Amino acid sequence: MLIFTKIADLKAFLSEIKAKNQTVGFVPTMGALHNGHISLISISKSACNITVCSIFVNPTQFNDKADLKRYPRMPEKDAAFLENAGCDILFLPSVEEIYPTGPVIETYDFGYLNSVLEGKYRPGHFNGVAQVVKRLFEIVEPDKAFFGSKDYQQVMIIKALIKQMQSLIEIVNCPILREADGLAMSSRNALLNEEERHIAALVPKIMREAKHIALSNGIKRAKDFVAAEILKVPVMKLEYFEICTADLKEIEKIDPSIKAVALIAVFVGKIRLIDNLELN
Ligand code: PAJ
Repeated sequence: MLIFTKIADLKAFLSEIKAKNQTVGFVPTMGALHNGHISLISISKSACNITVCSIFVNPTQFNDKADLKRYPRMPEKDAAFLENAGCDILFLPSVEEIYPTGPVIETYDFGYLNSVLEGKYRPGHFNGVAQVVKRLFEIVEPDKAFFGSKDYQQVMIIKALIKQMQSLIEIVNCPILREADGLAMSSRNALLNEEERHIAALVPKIMREAKHIALSNGIKRAKDFVAAEILKVPVMKLEYFEICTADLKEIEKIDPSIKAVALIAVFVGKIRLIDNLELN
């Protein structure tokens, strides 16, 4: 695996690859890699000739400074993990390389997506995501880019960004990888202590039960159930639990002919976890 830290070097190498008509798959990450990330690498490898992974903890997408500071960083371990997974190229830029004039916030208009769920509770977050992903897309110019549906709303934002950029990059939505107890894999799981990690496994369990309740007794009952279950555990704090259409519009009733998804954001101690589950 080749490791690049400079944009110019990566671009020069990739232009040789593209000149040979090889397809490039791209997996942007913030590191502290787990098998969820690696699953994106595997999907990219099966779809493209060359796979590029980037690791960049993007300061502009953290609305909470403490969250940015505590975000786990382990580039050497990550590089070994990627090498093992057969990744071809790792792009590991510095903040100065990505934001030479400082991390200025650019403003994107994603309509209602900016003001619901993650957009509502993490103001500015998606602006930062769009800013860095646009920058990375312009550097790597991949044929396809791979994103996990664990960050359900992020995939929608990236698809909207691609439209705004009038780009031909194909966005591939990949399934959520989970731990044996059902907890969605996340870099943030590494920040949970043993007790919190044990409690975090309640999240997917509550989601599965909520799905069952929503389908049999309606959305309100499911919401009440989730709120009550989370309230029972002092170390947990619910930020939101919503049931929406696949494009994240609010719904009041389940209609079997319309795809619905349940989405949750919950604190376990200081650590904020998100998850989602398709209902039909
Ligand atoms: P990060 O949280 O590192 O995630 C990188 C990619 O891995 C995202 O597409 C995310 O959805 C995917 N991913 C995370 N957990 C997963 C799981 N359990 N199963 C499958 N895929 C999973 O998302 C970001 O970084 C950043 O916002 C980024 C897009 C890199 C922009 O900075």
